[in-house]
Amino acid sequence: MQIKTGLLIAIEGIDGAGKSTLANILARQLIALNHSVILTKEPGGTHLGKQLRDILQTQLYPLDPKAEYLLFAADRAQHFHDIIIPYLQQNNIVISDRMSDSSLVYQGYGRGLDISTLQTINAWAMNNITPDITIYVRVAYTVARERILQRNMQLTAFEKEQDIFLQKLVVGFDDLLLSNPHCIVIDGTTTPEIVAITAIEKVLQWIKSRTKQ
Ligand SMILES: Nc1ncnc2c1ncn2[C@@H]1O[C@H](COP(=O)(O)OP(=O)(O)OP(=O)(O)O)[C@@H](O)[C@H]1O
Ligand SMILES: [Mg+2]
Repeated sequence: MQIKTGLLIAIEGIDGAGKSTLANILARQLIALNHSVILTKEPGGTHLGKQLRDILQTQLYPLDPKAEYLLFAADRAQHFHDIIIPYLQQNNIVISDRMSDSSLVYQGYGRGLDISTLQTINAWAMNNITPDITIYVRVAYTVARERILQRNMQLTAFEKEQDIFLQKLVVGFDDLLLSNPHCIVIDGTTTPEIVAITAIEKVLQWIKSRTKQ
């Protein structure tokens, strides 16, 4: 079944919250319900993005926060041009593992850059398209930290940050998303299955309300 217009879903939250786990289950289940789904991510959804993701995650040399943000913004511009806009125009459900709110939180709340400047550049990079639904997977940073260590993968530059930085990220996501009408807030400390079921129910409700119009 094709929904009438494309649907853009962003999944947000701190490192280790369970975003990628949710994105994969959500995509699988929507495909099982015969929706056309594109699963993508920021950074790294395009060829350019893969190179930028490598620079941003390894940070072999210290990046100036503005330079760091602009690399994310470059990834985002290419992502919207190559993936998000074309697939939305073809009426797909596009699920992005992170999007613009991550930059507001990590480079704004985390690194201290001016948030309204970041919002202006984000909007420009995104051709003023915003997610229809943002799913915020909310966990305490202590839970996320524990999961990241257990995941046993090489740590990214952001995962090596101190607790104080992680605390700022939780404050940032809470500030931006807890009372945002486009946002579904999900308790990420329950099982992956419960997280996914809660998200799917809300997304299906949204699709139903849109299809009726
Ligand atoms: N609801 C959950 N309960 C317990 N463990 C979980 C849950 N969701 C994910 N995990 C596990 O926690 C770890 C982090 O999950 P995941 O990789 O999905 O997080 P993420 O938000 O995508 O992190 P990152 O921002 O670093 O990519 C993984 O090992 C995953 O299997
Ligand atoms: Mg992930």
